[in-house]
This record gives sequence, C-alpha cells and structure tokens, in this order.
Amino acid sequence: MDSQIAVACRRALEETPMNLEPTDSTGDSAPPAESLTFWLAVVIVVVIFAGGLFGYDQGVISGALPGIKETFSLSVFMLQVVTSWVTLGALAGSLMAGSLGDAVGRKRTMLLAGALFTLGAVVQSLAPGELVLVAGRLVVGIGVGVAAVAAPLYAAELAPASFRGRFISSYQLAITVGIFLAYLVNAHLSESGNWRMMLGATAVPGLVLFLVALVAPESPRWLMMKIRRAEARAEAHKVYSDIDVETHLNAIEVALRTEDKPAPWSELFHREWRNPLVVAIGLAIFQQITGINAIIYYANQIFASAGFASPESQAIVTTWAIGGVNVVATLFAIAFIDNVGRRKLLLTGLVGMGVSLIAVGVAFQFIGVQGQAPAAVGPTLAGIATVAALIVFIASFAFSLGPVVWTVINEVFPARVRGRGVALATAVNWGSAYLVSQFFLSLVNAIGSSLTFWLFALFCGIAWLWIYRTVPETKRQSLEDIQRMWSPQE
Ligand code: BGC
Repeated sequence: MDSQIAVACRRALEETPMNLEPTDSTGDSAPPAESLTFWLAVVIVVVIFAGGLFGYDQGVISGALPGIKETFSLSVFMLQVVTSWVTLGALAGSLMAGSLGDAVGRKRTMLLAGALFTLGAVVQSLAPGELVLVAGRLVVGIGVGVAAVAAPLYAAELAPASFRGRFISSYQLAITVGIFLAYLVNAHLSESGNWRMMLGATAVPGLVLFLVALVAPESPRWLMMKIRRAEARAEAHKVYSDIDVETHLNAIEVALRTEDKPAPWSELFHREWRNPLVVAIGLAIFQQITGINAIIYYANQIFASAGFASPESQAIVTTWAIGGVNVVATLFAIAFIDNVGRRKLLLTGLVGMGVSLIAVGVAFQFIGVQGQAPAAVGPTLAGIATVAALIVFIASFAFSLGPVVWTVINEVFPARVRGRGVALATAVNWGSAYLVSQFFLSLVNAIGSSLTFWLFALFCGIAWLWIYRTVPETKRQSLEDIQRMWSPQE
C-alpha cells in the first residue's frame, strides 16, 4: 500500500469512531463532494433506521419479558431463549451479510434487512405460542445481523469523504437511540404489559426502512465492482451534486484494481496475524462478558429485584438510567475518541465498570436474593445505590468498551485479512452476547445476584490486565505502523 492510500485509509479510520464492519472497500475513492444532497439524506435515513431498529430490538425485550412470561407461563430457561435468540440470529445474519452484499448489492441487502425486521415483528406480535415467538425473534435477529454489517458498509461507500465519519457514527448513535426509544415504549405500555404491541411496533419502522431502501440509491462502488458503469454513472449523478462523476468512477476503478484481494479464511490463522487476531477476538469477548447486555436486556428485572416494585417505576428507571445515559455517553465518545487514545479510554472505562459492578453486588447483599424485594415498600437505599451504580456502569461502558472495541477491531488487521478478521471478531462478539443473555438469569438463580455481578467485575479486572499488557495504542498510527507493531513480537 503506498503512503497516499495509507493516509486515506488512516483518515477514514480516524473519522470512524465506531463499528466499521468488514469494509476495507472504501479505499481512497470516496467522492470529494462537499454538500449534502437529497439522495445522501435518503442514505442517512436508511442507515439511521437500520441502526435504530437494531437498538430497538435489543432494548424492547427488557420491558416485554414480564408479559411474555405471564402469557406463556415460561420457565427461566425459555425466558432466556426468547431473549437470546435475537443474538443467535444476528450471529448468522452477520456471517452471511458480507457475501450477500457483494452478490445482490448494498441496496437489496438493506431491503432484505427491512423485510426481516417487519416480518419478525409481525410474527412475534401474533405468536400463538412460545415456539413461534422464538422463530420471530430469530428472524428479527437475522435482520439485526444483516443490518449490522450492511448499513455501515452502505454508509461508508456512499458518504463523501468529509462526511464519512459522521455517516458511520450516526449508525452507532442510532443503535443507542433505538434502545432508548424501546425503553420509552416499554414505559408507556408497562401498565398494560402489552408485549405484543411492544414487539410488533417495529413493523412500522421496518416497513419504512423497506420502502426508503426501495427508492434509495445503489452504491456506485458496488455497481463498478459488477462492471455496470452506466448504472454507476446514473447513481453518482443522482447522489452527488458537485463532483466530476467520470473522475470519481475512474478513481473507483483504479482503487478496485489495485486493492488487495481478500485473503482466504485459512490465512487469517497464520502465525503472522496471530497477535492482531488475539487482540480483536479478546476485545470482542471482553466487551460482552463484562455484562453490558445482561444489563440492557434484563434491566427491568434487576430494578424489580432492587425494590422498584411496579412495572411503571422499573420502566422509568430503565429508560433514563440505562437508555438515556447510554445515548449521552455515546455522544461524548464520538467527540473524544480520536483525541484521548484508545487504551486510556478502555482502561479508565473498565475501572468505572468494575467498581460500579462491585457496588451493585454489595447493594444486592442488602437487597436479598432476586424476587424477594420488598414489593410494596418501594426502592430502599440499596435500590437507589443500585441505580446510581448502574448509571456509572453504563456511562463507563458507553465511552469506552462500547465504541472503542469496534474501532480497534477495525484498525488492527492488515487490509488483506481485515474483512475476514473483522467478520470473525463480530461473530465472536455476537456469540459471547448470546452466552451472556442465555445464561444470566440461570446464573443469578444458581449463585445469586451479588456473585453474578462480582463475576462480571472480575472479568473487568482480567480485561484491564489483559488490555494493559496486550492491546497497543493505535491512535494516530498509520495502518503500516500498526502492522509493523506486530512484527517485533514474532
Ligand atoms: C455492543 C452491543 C451493546 C451496545 C449497547 C455495542 O457496542 O456491541 O452488544 O448492546 O453497545 O449500546
């Protein structure tokens, strides 16, 4: 890679504070457009709806679980299946989205995501029994996985260079806003416990995503990949008002010709890529086993145990203490990630997460075991302490492990294996999320709430030590510098 391309890639990554999925394909051929046209706004709408639906489907289950449990008299195991199968579907969806996007195009992949979100929502809301409900969760999950890979790719390919960072981070922000909106809907419907409405509500935005994706532009870059220059020209004319389209298409052509061909899967496991692979997979696992999705998914249940007896009070605390804080802290992360380095953010955030988890565990010592909360009395001092500690936890996660893990995963691999490496780390991340959401309640029942939170805190400690020793600072390093960093250790 010559230094100019390295600088361009570096800049793209610097502008990309969060999860840029397997897309080493933006290269140096981003259009130099300066103004935001109507069609670029349409692209942003697609991206925001995809992120928002992803977040909504993550957050909504927290409010829907009590009603689902009552309707189908579910065991703890089945409650966890209903919760976690979205992540299982997402694992499958994220593994297939890359090849799908290449085969049928970015636009059709987004159409598919919209269709899956809509279909899954309808199936869930009409489910006559728990098995159909789980099938609906799986369909939505596949939509989540497809969108998680396709939306950032679509954004990265269509965004002019000067907007790319904002396009991609708008996707990440949309996820947290989606979680927040889900909590708001939960709060609104908590009194009636209408879980069918909570889960079915995504049919409308899912359909909007589908309809907007129907008219949205196809990526000129993908059309050029498929040697469909005339269509690429038409799309580029439509989307960018102020560029020389032929020059832009030529730049794409050159970039496509010179860019490294993706390596086969087997090469990812060669000894020379061992260090970046370990860093990416380690971060993907630690992001999940330190407990974030146990809190996101089971927030209401945790607050119920902490003495917030009514569903309404649980929903209000979950909405603002978890959902609201998550959005605000993510905004901070977007502002600061490129100035304060990755290591500093990760290490500081983990201290906040670890200490707050220890505090939650201590609070639960006073609260008692799950389900024995003083129902009519309302939150005790320990209950309030739990809320305060969880606010610190979410804020610490949202400005550290949340965004930084995705940034580093996308930075550490050399271009040749980046697509595969990021895809694998993403799948490992979903797999770990699945394990946590599948076993959290069982763990609480088996060893109690305090020990469960202390276990997450222990993982924060291990993550801290591991990151301190293993993860290099990648801020302001060129991709070659990062690559060179691995060599002396071989
Ligand atoms: C994680 C998700 C999590 C979300 C919360 C993301 O970085 O990958 O698993 O639900 O943050 O905002």
